[in-house]
Amino acid sequence: MLVVDGLEVRYGDARAIRDVSIEVPDHAITSILGSNGAGKSTLLRAIAGHLSSSGGRIVFDGEDITGLPPYLIAERGIAVVPEGRRMFSHLTVEENLLVGASARRSQSGKRKRLGEMYDLFPRLSERKQQQAGTLSGGEQQMVAIARAMMLNPKLVLFDEPSLGLAPIVTDLVFETISTLGQEGLTMLLVEQNASLALATASRGYVLEQGRVVVEGDAATLQASPAVREAYLGMGIEGEAG
Ligand SMILES: Nc1ncnc2c1ncn2[C@@H]1O[C@H](COP(=O)(O)OP(=O)(O)O)[C@@H](O)[C@H]1O
Ligand SMILES: [Mg+2]
Repeated sequence: MLVVDGLEVRYGDARAIRDVSIEVPDHAITSILGSNGAGKSTLLRAIAGHLSSSGGRIVFDGEDITGLPPYLIAERGIAVVPEGRRMFSHLTVEENLLVGASARRSQSGKRKRLGEMYDLFPRLSERKQQQAGTLSGGEQQMVAIARAMMLNPKLVLFDEPSLGLAPIVTDLVFETISTLGQEGLTMLLVEQNASLALATASRGYVLEQGRVVVEGDAATLQASPAVREAYLGMGIEGEAG
């Protein structure tokens, strides 16, 4: 389980995350909702060790990981699927996946894991020698997920996996996330698309200007008038019938 306790993260004098406390229980999907600029990516980057915090603690499986460098956090079993996917576009699909594997793993271990990823994503298996930059957005998201899974992680942090994808492709990506969830993977899912996130996650938090303003199980969030109005656009959908 990941526990974030009273976290504060600053960019210079500006506090992007203020006194944020969240729990990410094992074998479940937890989501972080919030509009653009709420601090969602900042929170994920702090958990992954890419940003240092100016207050609070991050504890993973009972160990205080606050301030550890990213490679040590990855070694603890926390993998990231970053916003915008961040491929090495001139490398092949397979080379991108191998970048995700831990340097400590043996060659045969990496090959074995690669095979498991191709079983999970047959489409990537067909395209393993293709340059990642020439893939569609949905295929690139699959590469980003498979690359994170190469670590054999205990916890995967997703930053806006639906961003820039067509609805039908988004559905496919979320089906994959749901499948991984059913297999028991622990995930923290950041999404602006709240209805999608709440359909996928069991619990969630809403961030506003760097603070948690609502938390609860997915059904509670979905039913909350504040969430419906502010994040699910229910008024508009209601009018459309
Ligand atoms: N590198 C940065 N330098 C300064 N301010 C930043 C930086 N990245 C993000 N911010 C600011 O921090 C706040 C939270 O941003 P971010 O975490 O990216 O939000 P979200 O992911 O929810 O859209 C915003 O006000 C944003 O402008
Ligand atoms: Mg973001």
